[in-house]
Amino acid sequence: MPVKGKTPTANGGSATPSLSHLAVAGYRSLQQLTVPLGVLPLGGLTVVCGANGCGKSNLYRSLGLIAAAARGELVAALAAEGGLPAVFWAGPERTTREMRRGEQPVQGSSGRREAARLRLGMAGASLSYAIELGYRADDHSSAFVLDPEIKREWIWAGGPFHPRSLLVQRSGAVVERCGEGGRSQPLALEVSPHESLLTAVSDPLEAPEVFQLRRMILSWRFYDSFRTDRQAPARSGRIATRTLSLAADGGDLAAAVQTIIEIGDHEGLQAAIGAAFPGCRLTVDTSGPSFRLQLHQPGLLRPLEASELSDGTLRYLLLAAALFSPRLPPLLVLNEPENSLHPDLLEPLARLIAAVAERTQVWVVAHAEALITALEDSPGCRLLRLERELGATLLPGQTVLERAAWRWPA
Ligand SMILES: Nc1ncnc2c1ncn2[C@@H]1O[C@H](COP(=O)(O)OP(=O)(O)OP(=O)(O)O)[C@@H](O)[C@H]1O
Ligand SMILES: [Mg+2]
Repeated sequence: MPVKGKTPTANGGSATPSLSHLAVAGYRSLQQLTVPLGVLPLGGLTVVCGANGCGKSNLYRSLGLIAAAARGELVAALAAEGGLPAVFWAGPERTTREMRRGEQPVQGSSGRREAARLRLGMAGASLSYAIELGYRADDHSSAFVLDPEIKREWIWAGGPFHPRSLLVQRSGAVVERCGEGGRSQPLALEVSPHESLLTAVSDPLEAPEVFQLRRMILSWRFYDSFRTDRQAPARSGRIATRTLSLAADGGDLAAAVQTIIEIGDHEGLQAAIGAAFPGCRLTVDTSGPSFRLQLHQPGLLRPLEASELSDGTLRYLLLAAALFSPRLPPLLVLNEPENSLHPDLLEPLARLIAAVAERTQVWVVAHAEALITALEDSPGCRLLRLERELGATLLPGQTVLERAAWRWPA
């Protein structure tokens, strides 16, 4: 697929603030997991795969939780998943070698609630971030003792954590900037335990790194199984406005395609449609306030509209519109994009994904071996084949050096 210079990079032409690692501890099957992401100068591709139940969706959701923290919705997102009792790692604090060998029963100590900590972290080229949640401090008079609370947060410069690279730190209700020689300056004093420092500290002049990090995380895009049923938003029209990147529900598909036609890589999009559906071409009827997508197919006297397309065809068009966004996000996340696509479409889809991954970071959770194989050899691809042992998600084959690339701030 041709990649035109016309389409800007994810960061308006400058280097993308690439993520190098995602780290999770205590979240569902992710007892303690650090994964490296695929990194290229401007992009990179991470493909997460593995058997049912190995932890792919948990890892995908962890990224979503970091995004929820930047929107100020982390505690609500955890509550929607059933709260800490449901999402906290249900195994023992420590899994011993004897437990792994089956020589000792799996058991943990009682009274874990006080010590229970859920941690999420990401390392970037310029800024890294970690957040730690736990239960409310014991207050037996309250009915809300199982509410999750944000206990600590950290932002530091560069990838691997070092106390000297700490820029901003939150402990309880206090957020402070870490200055030279251990001197710190308060940025916020009464932050709610439900609010992340990413939303509590908002002044770009006072805390530029918080502002920059929040802005970057907020622009991540998640596409998770587009609806294609009869009532799907992508099948009905929506009042069209210029759409630089497709909405998560695909409801602005026609406007997104028209935007690509006007200011994006129109030829590339048509080539991608032709590669998947030989002889087909996309146009948009812009005569009314709700634009209408039209797929011209050989052998038909009129183009078909979104409401008339098959589920797989519509899903492929949605993925193509997302991947040809004139404004690519710094991280584009596709959860099981192969769902309901014919195997013949997986190779064209892989080519689209690989081309986009040269310009921005792409994260794909995939089941289909054909898609995984087609993506595996593309430049900058990091294949994460997850496994599960005694209920915990593992990334086999990680070297000691790779594991040491992430350290939780203390
Ligand atoms: N609180 C918890 N503690 C430990 N394990 C949990 C917890 N909650 C869920 N799990 C387990 O996490 C495992 C991984 O789930 P996940 O949904 O990530 O799997 P997956 O790889 O996406 O599987 P699939 O391919 O079926 O979608 C499941 O086996 C689930 O039972
Ligand atoms: Mg899953």
